[in-house]
Amino acid sequence: MPSFKTLDDLPADLTGQTALVRVDLNLPMHEGRASDVTRVEAVKPTILELADRGAKLLLLAHFGRPKGQRHSTMSTSLVQGDVERVLDREIMFVSEVGGPVVEQSLGILRPGDIGLLDNVRFWPGEEANDPEFARAIAANGDFYVNDAFSAAHRAHASTEGLTHFLPSYAGRAMEAELKALEAALGNPERPVAAVVGGAKVSTKLDVLQHLVKQVQHLIIGGGMANTFLAARGVDVGKSLAEHDLAATANRIMDEAEHAGCTVHLPYDVVVAKEFAANPASLRTANVHEVAADEMILDIGPRAVEALGDVLKTCRTLVWNGPLGAFETPPFDAATVALARTAAALTQEGSLTSVAGGGDTVAALAHAGVARDFTYVSTAGGAFLEWMEGRELPGVAALTR
Ligand code: 3PG
Repeated sequence: MPSFKTLDDLPADLTGQTALVRVDLNLPMHEGRASDVTRVEAVKPTILELADRGAKLLLLAHFGRPKGQRHSTMSTSLVQGDVERVLDREIMFVSEVGGPVVEQSLGILRPGDIGLLDNVRFWPGEEANDPEFARAIAANGDFYVNDAFSAAHRAHASTEGLTHFLPSYAGRAMEAELKALEAALGNPERPVAAVVGGAKVSTKLDVLQHLVKQVQHLIIGGGMANTFLAARGVDVGKSLAEHDLAATANRIMDEAEHAGCTVHLPYDVVVAKEFAANPASLRTANVHEVAADEMILDIGPRAVEALGDVLKTCRTLVWNGPLGAFETPPFDAATVALARTAAALTQEGSLTSVAGGGDTVAALAHAGVARDFTYVSTAGGAFLEWMEGRELPGVAALTR
């Protein structure tokens, strides 16, 4: 794995130094409060460690996509209360990211105190990765810590640019994330299985194309499986499927065969005539017996059992996306069952399991196993780009 510096490479006593710490505070909001503070909990160890070692901290984050302009609805001051609650410390809000206002705040902050800078995307220099903008931010810090893996797919001033001006370190969350990802796909123990689910093949084409060359078992679920089944000539009734991607799906299956990767598609499925919770028309069917007015909403129990057996032969698992329409019962059954098998194998020590991206965290939490996986990433886009085998600018900058 390419090496990067961590907080262990900094002096034990950081009194007199200011740390610019990039965190991801892009939190989902509900009625003026964060509805999920997992991302704050993730960066808490880094923040408290630096504070306890005597540094002054300036937290740098984006919030929404304000496109280079100030919007009161996207100020990081809106999450200040949530951050304070999770950290159990008072923090000081600073309405700028560089210049004299930040300098003055540093005059007020004492060693161990924490300042929260406003949304770095209020300035066009952030997304443009303008070196002058990065230089102006860097002027108020002695070193830079990036603890925001979930923003590392952006080559922005606060994720990439700052590393050109300050000694740069991975925070504890970034460090754990990079180690977990390395164990999952960088240098994994084989055999490796990947579960890729979700509604659409079109959003995950690059992921699938990369994975067939990396893993020995590719388990496809969700609406994506319907597209693959249809491409193989299976009549999927009125299931969600991207029929125009049949040629692409067939090419991916050919590439898999060529690379020695087994693609697993369900041979039994859970179908209904309407998409609703516990519909009257619910039934389990062989995949070749889906009626024209039925839709596939989950993979079936026999397929789940077979997939569990596949996982028992594997040493590593990467999971992205649910296997069925998991938000509506009983179409969560396959996701829950397979997630529990993976969690049990992980707890027994036979499987390294890494999951991440969009709905995945919610699906695993729903199955009650998020803590039993080896690692669950809260990153969305960054996790997918990593699964595509792409270099993430924010990570590459730390390893330079
Ligand atoms: C996220 O919420 O996934 C990250 O914070 C990145 O946000 P972005 O997609 O607006 O860059």
